Amino acid sequence: MAARTKVTLPQLRAMKERGEKITMVTAYDYPSALLADRAGMDMLLVGDSLGMVVLGYQSTVPVTMDEMVHHTRAVMRANPAALVVADLPFLSYQASVQDAVYNAGRLVKEGGADAVKLEGGRAMIPMVRAIVDAGIPVMGHLGLTPQSVVQLGGYRVQGREAAAAEKIAADAAELVEAGIFSLVLECVPAELARRITAELPVPTIGIGAGPDCDGQVLVYHDLLGLFDRFQPKFVKRYVNLGEAIVKALADYREEVRQGKFPGEEHSFR
Ligand code: KIV
Repeated sequence: MAARTKVTLPQLRAMKERGEKITMVTAYDYPSALLADRAGMDMLLVGDSLGMVVLGYQSTVPVTMDEMVHHTRAVMRANPAALVVADLPFLSYQASVQDAVYNAGRLVKEGGADAVKLEGGRAMIPMVRAIVDAGIPVMGHLGLTPQSVVQLGGYRVQGREAAAAEKIAADAAELVEAGIFSLVLECVPAELARRITAELPVPTIGIGAGPDCDGQVLVYHDLLGLFDRFQPKFVKRYVNLGEAIVKALADYREEVRQGKFPGEEHSFR
């Protein structure tokens, strides 16, 4: 297969205009980035979901900037053609515009990310403007915003009531006005996502937001069956690698115990 050229922001915008779906998956390390890029993804997300699926935290809240930089650097060593977006973790941008610009800058300068993502609507507008003014592309994230999971009352669909739906749509428009290049919509009714997608000039990327977003994102470990602490309704598991890995490890253990491994072919003369 010919080497792909780097995906750019204008290309993503053009895909929306052509009605061509945009593909995105999370990646947290060198091997996952290599495989996802080889599969042809348009965007990779170094999501703060790594806190749960890689680091074993109960939520994304404890994830630190240093952890995000560490994992972003590992992803970037795969030199992906996909555009790489790194999450600003909880408390790295909410307290001040200065924090937001400094920490977005760390993800780009130390981590090597192409863009950053942050959660929230109107309250985040000054941060989004300042990061964009610093020359860093920003992706927004509305609907279920996991960094505020307690305030939202748990991992539940957002925007079902008319007033809540209007607020999400208004926040989306304000984020675009502030300069976001794309917007993640997480766990919102499909009809609301369809409406916002039609209203915005920038691509929407859905997760639990129905089929009408401009693109879709899933968590790597969810779609490959590598995380089973819980499985949201919106996840499609394309393969159960967790089961395959346990079987391979158990086979190896058994062969070692029975003296079958290593065999002649794995030994030196
Ligand atoms: O951290 C993450 O993986 C995310 C996706 C769920 C969009 O933000």
